[in-house]
Amino acid sequence: MNIQLQTRSLTKSFNAITVLDHLDLDIAEGSITAVVGPSGCGKTTLLRIIAGFDTPDSGTVTLAGRRVAGPDGSVAPHRRGVGYVAQDGALFPHLTVAQNVAYGLNAGLRHRAVRERVAELLRTVSLDESLAGRRPSELSGGQQQRVALARALARRPALMLLDEPFSSLDTGLRATTRKAVARTLSEAGVTTLLVTHDQEEALSIADQVAVMSGGRFTQVGTPQAVYLRPTSRFTAEFLGDCVFLPCTVRDGVADSLLGRLPAGPVPDGPATMLLRPEQLQASVVTDVSDAGLGTVVDAEFLGPDVLLTIEPAGGAAPITVRQHSFGCPGVHTKVNIELLGTPVIFEDSGA
Ligand SMILES: Nc1ncnc2c1ncn2[C@@H]1O[C@H](COP(=O)(O)OP(=O)(O)OP(=O)(O)O)[C@@H](O)[C@H]1O
Ligand SMILES: [Mg+2]
Repeated sequence: MNIQLQTRSLTKSFNAITVLDHLDLDIAEGSITAVVGPSGCGKTTLLRIIAGFDTPDSGTVTLAGRRVAGPDGSVAPHRRGVGYVAQDGALFPHLTVAQNVAYGLNAGLRHRAVRERVAELLRTVSLDESLAGRRPSELSGGQQQRVALARALARRPALMLLDEPFSSLDTGLRATTRKAVARTLSEAGVTTLLVTHDQEEALSIADQVAVMSGGRFTQVGTPQAVYLRPTSRFTAEFLGDCVFLPCTVRDGVADSLLGRLPAGPVPDGPATMLLRPEQLQASVVTDVSDAGLGTVVDAEFLGPDVLLTIEPAGGAAPITVRQHSFGCPGVHTKVNIELLGTPVIFEDSGA
């Protein structure tokens, strides 16, 4: 695996406030990494430093084996082979959509081949060709974002940095555009670092997800690893809904409301079990001699799914279960809960 981008101990402060705190990141050539994290955690600052618009206080940035920022100085942004689509897009206001995109090709629109390539790039970002003659001020925010993306794609950079490129698009358009853009990037072998606020987007588009908080990565891994096997409560809660159940670990077994389950390498003592609501499935108790685990006290209908709130019989805290609407137990029914997969257990002292 060739590493296209590597940061080591990247640190940056603004006005004595640490914004990036010793960040290490490796991105394999041709892969997509998504950075997610709360507003203000340092995502844009990271992209700006990699692009060369800001310099780190310490640490290094290496692109394809070449040091571009570090204690020995830095390489100018236009010499890094990096495409950057800023959070606000930033198009040339006096140029048309087609001229903006052609600018990325370092060409005018006189040649037919250039016009065809511009049209192809507009299609990639799901923009209608009829917009080609408009100026940025005549476009919606989401359309401007996609023109900026097309312009950056036109350059075929070795590394593409995208700062919330789909944030102004509605859900349906967002899903189609991100699929088309991801395909184009991977077909062209472009290594991509994408910042997004949308957890589902990060998990669906990326080969690697980096979860950021306060200038540090809390976890970097495959989408499956960070979602299914989070190493901290922050990562778990940031990426999706969680059910936390108290449990007691003894000899690698966690004892909780749900019975005895494997605890992995967690030391003996009180601990917390993390479950995803869709990992739990409630089924109506049919046997009169079975008291059931609890009673459904609320059912929130979401269309494909229902969120059930189940009150355990012994008075423990309610448990949320997400399951398909069809055949779902109703309110007031007694249910048992079945677990899919294995839970993640956190030691109570840590995480
Ligand atoms: N040029 C600057 N001068 C001073 N403070 C700055 C500067 N740029 C960023 N900051 C501060 O650094 C922190 C991180 O900013 P950054 O833009 O990297 O966050 P972000 O994770 O991209 O947030 P968002 O999700 O809202 O875009 C913020 O507290 C911000 O106010
Ligand atoms: Mg930002």
